Amino acid sequence: MKRRKKRMAKIIDGKLISAKIKTAIRAEANTLKEKGIEIGLAVVIVGDDPASRVYVNNKKKDCEEVGFSSFEYALPGETTQEELLKLVGELNNDNQVNGILVQLPLPPHINENKVLSAICPDKDVDAFHPENVGHIMVGDYKFLPCTPAGVMEMLDDAEIEVSGKNCVVIGRSNIVGKPMAMLLLHKNGTVTICHSKTRNLKEICAGADILVAAVGKEKFVTADMVKEGAVVIDVGMNRNSEGKLCGDADYNACFDKASYITPVPGGVGPMTRAVLMKNTLTSAKMKNNI
Ligand code: GUN
Repeated sequence: MKRRKKRMAKIIDGKLISAKIKTAIRAEANTLKEKGIEIGLAVVIVGDDPASRVYVNNKKKDCEEVGFSSFEYALPGETTQEELLKLVGELNNDNQVNGILVQLPLPPHINENKVLSAICPDKDVDAFHPENVGHIMVGDYKFLPCTPAGVMEMLDDAEIEVSGKNCVVIGRSNIVGKPMAMLLLHKNGTVTICHSKTRNLKEICAGADILVAAVGKEKFVTADMVKEGAVVIDVGMNRNSEGKLCGDADYNACFDKASYITPVPGGVGPMTRAVLMKNTLTSAKMKNNI
């Protein structure tokens, strides 16, 4: 009997790549500081979602690491939409603030689209404002959304060619799935977006050269959904039954089939954070005509 040789995927180390990006950002921030330009990021969190709290704390740490000021606004869960819009308006006019990030999800009584649309597009470091979304669509942008841009940086760092490849994105959120598909398309990938109503999901995924999972379900991507030698990018951030952070892919099983894979933790997450810092730097440079 012929035995299939066990493949071992190469791990794309998001922690390492993001550290390189942050070192470069810190150097630029220092140069700007010498010119009297301070960079600031405002982060707004409404309510006490524990995952959001962790994300916001991490952003604060990243700001310290790259030499930015961070301004945190932790508002109670009962905050009204009007109160939140008022704060966004104040931050739009605050000269110390280059980037504004309103942590999602917001409580259900607040209309997320209204709030995101109120952020000044020049300070919209998430790139969620419809104006910036439109810029991304036509390929002429100031900011790229943090997670999809982080994934593209990982593919680039690993020298993975996208042009002509079958790229399958599982998930169609405004934060990840849709912009991810657009960025892969800009690089001439042949892109399919799968979602909860997709028929033949397994077959479509099994045809992917590059498979991006942004579902939010532990072990959603099983080995039979991965083509031999495919690139598996795991955007998932889930907690398993032991409370440990895990992605959307059945990591060990997919590891034996993929050519490249991203771990969770230490994969896409740190890249998202690094791109947020990059966008905040870009915003400060734009404001100062640099
Ligand atoms: N919640 C989960 N991911 C994100 C993100 O990238 N930006 C914001 N603002 N909220 C999030």
